[in-house]
Amino acid sequence: MSVEDALRRLRAARRAVALTGAGVSTASGLPDFRSVGGLWVGVDPMTVASRTALERDPAAFYAFYRGRLARLDGASPNPAHRALVALERAGRLRAVLTQNVDGLHQAAGSAHVVELHGNLREAACIACGGIAPIAALIAPLDAGRLPRCERCGGLLKPNVVLFEDPMPADAWRRAVLEARAADVMLVVGSSLQVTPAAYLPRETLDRGGALVIVNREPTPYDRDAAVVIHGEADRILPAISRGLDGREEAPSGATN
Ligand code: APR
Repeated sequence: MSVEDALRRLRAARRAVALTGAGVSTASGLPDFRSVGGLWVGVDPMTVASRTALERDPAAFYAFYRGRLARLDGASPNPAHRALVALERAGRLRAVLTQNVDGLHQAAGSAHVVELHGNLREAACIACGGIAPIAALIAPLDAGRLPRCERCGGLLKPNVVLFEDPMPADAWRRAVLEARAADVMLVVGSSLQVTPAAYLPRETLDRGGALVIVNREPTPYDRDAAVVIHGEADRILPAISRGLDGREEAPSGATN
């Protein structure tokens, strides 16, 4: 199937929504999780990105996240992010439901983003739930200390959903509403293997909506999708955006 098939679906869509995963950010230099070179290749996420890891092996936990934060420093939105902004501004996309925590959709200029797995911009206290800028976690780590909450002294973690954590209730509620209301869900750069996020395409399908999947590799939803394009998101999305409205992507450096 081709970009033309995707264009037909999106042109006819009354209420399209995007669901994105780490594959939309690999062109920005951020590794995904399950591809070759991904973060979980040869690494058990339970040992570095779970509540158990934080409590039993804080050194490994913080080393893993300090590495992710360092990579984020040099990352900026790529043409895939900007194409989604152009679709949103052209009234073709209602919202971006993202599993990503890198903030690149917002940095590109997407105004309606639902972060299903939290974000790396903030730190959260595991004891009182207090939120602080991520610098409150980075500075003590770089000084060789454990990051602690100013209010209660509890350990700080990046404000992301760890393995063994529940998804943020408000984000999940919003995402389900958007998925159920969508007549087209544009899935970009996700293996669709991690629940509950991977249930969202089913919410769209069960109400008669259609899936348009843009992913480098096959996903479990390919057989249920109206359109499947296996390829690079940072090439395919600009082609879709160009085909819909002539504008390939939002001007770089766009702000919300
Ligand atoms: N263009 C298109 N697809 C790509 C690109 C690209 N440039 N780069 C990678 N991909 C595809 C990969 O082939 C893979 O199928 O994106 C998908 C990314 O899948 P995962 O690595 O599993 O990432 P994701 O689906 O976002 O993972 C979901 O798992 O561990 C958790 O919290 C983590 O949010 C993450 C969740």
